[in-house]
Amino acid sequence: MPKQTIINAPSLANCNLLTIGSQIQQLVAAGVNFFHIDIMDGHYVPNLCFSLKLVQDLKAQYPDCIADVHLMVTNPAQYIAPLKKSGADYVSFHMDGTHFTRRILEDIRTQDMKAGVVINPSQRIDLIEPIIQFLDYAVLMTVEPGYAGQKFMPDSLGRLDELVRLKEKHSCSFPISIDGGVDFFHAKECVARGAEIFVTGIYTVFNQEDGITAACRRFQTEMEAVISSDM
Ligand code: DX5
Ligand code: ZN
Repeated sequence: MPKQTIINAPSLANCNLLTIGSQIQQLVAAGVNFFHIDIMDGHYVPNLCFSLKLVQDLKAQYPDCIADVHLMVTNPAQYIAPLKKSGADYVSFHMDGTHFTRRILEDIRTQDMKAGVVINPSQRIDLIEPIIQFLDYAVLMTVEPGYAGQKFMPDSLGRLDELVRLKEKHSCSFPISIDGGVDFFHAKECVARGAEIFVTGIYTVFNQEDGITAACRRFQTEMEAVISSDM
């Protein structure tokens, strides 16, 4: 079995927009190179967040970082080519925002980006079964999408187990990303269940008393400890 990796993917939605540059700089200095960028259209979810400009600016300043774009939009198809142009590396979207999931996944892959779908708390896990072979990653929402700062839904742990079983059934090895309300306790529970990408936000990396650098270090150390204790 391949070794489980842990990726700390801070959600930039948790940044203060007046100081986002220095917060990103601190994250990079703390070893982060994977950034979760929420794009919302005010239609699929009742909120707005970032535009493609942030992806473009991030990649211009940090060309080696990974821009992981989470599209919370209706009709994600129209964003794929512009996202490629902006420098996105990973693109995930919600299946109920489109009639053409498979075509969009293929489009993302054809443009040399990693393709993912996002599963909402109210959706069945096996919704992804018909397209599981076309995934480079899957995102499990552990809050309702649309807002930063919500609490992790504890029943997500059982849903994660279900997703892991579905992957095994189809011999898939893509990573699972956990998005929403990730705190240290639930992050560890998700590591123990096999998740690899953690969208860290308000309860882990931002607004910690210790600051971003210490929070990133603590996250990496504590999550890797869970893996070593399992061996
Ligand atoms: C919620 C977003 C998340 C969010 C995660 O719609 O998809 O990416 O910003 O951060 P917290 O930790 O605030 O839930
Ligand atoms: Zn997100």
